[in-house]
Amino acid sequence: MAIERTLSIIKPDAVAKNVIGQIYSRFEGAGLKIVAARMTQLSREQAEGFYAAHKERGFFKDLVDFMVSGPVMIQALEGENAVAVHRDLMGATDPKKADKGTIRADFADSIDANAVHGSDAVDAAAIEIAYFFSK
Ligand code: PPS
Repeated sequence: MAIERTLSIIKPDAVAKNVIGQIYSRFEGAGLKIVAARMTQLSREQAEGFYAAHKERGFFKDLVDFMVSGPVMIQALEGENAVAVHRDLMGATDPKKADKGTIRADFADSIDANAVHGSDAVDAAAIEIAYFFSK
């Protein structure tokens, strides 16, 4: 199995719920190492740039409004098969459809406020990590 890196964002709803530590424990328990991290308040420009691929979607404004509504915790995770391992930990985008025991099933309230973001592929992860962290 390849050692990969993936980008994780703990979104404003989960930061406000004070569950950063619980989410980090799940990463570490699954063998993912936190190799970079910072808490920040995203600007509208940063959030729109990060989600640029979705700018034609009906939910784009709601997504950006939500992502700038409070601080986020951003981290790069490293480990074997990190992209898929992290996505399994997160669960489905809609928490109502997320498997029991996943981060979204346990901490997210809705598809709008769904607790976490994770890169969906290794090449996307490299772009997303570079968006927030220097080498
Ligand atoms: S797709 O088509 O697979 O790319 O879409 P998806 O990965 O499901 O969603 C892309 C991001 O948009 C968020 N999303 C929404 N936000 C607000 N409202 C609605 N209805 C909605 N549907 C999807 C979703 O959480 C994804 O954001 P990230 O940060 O990647 O989880």
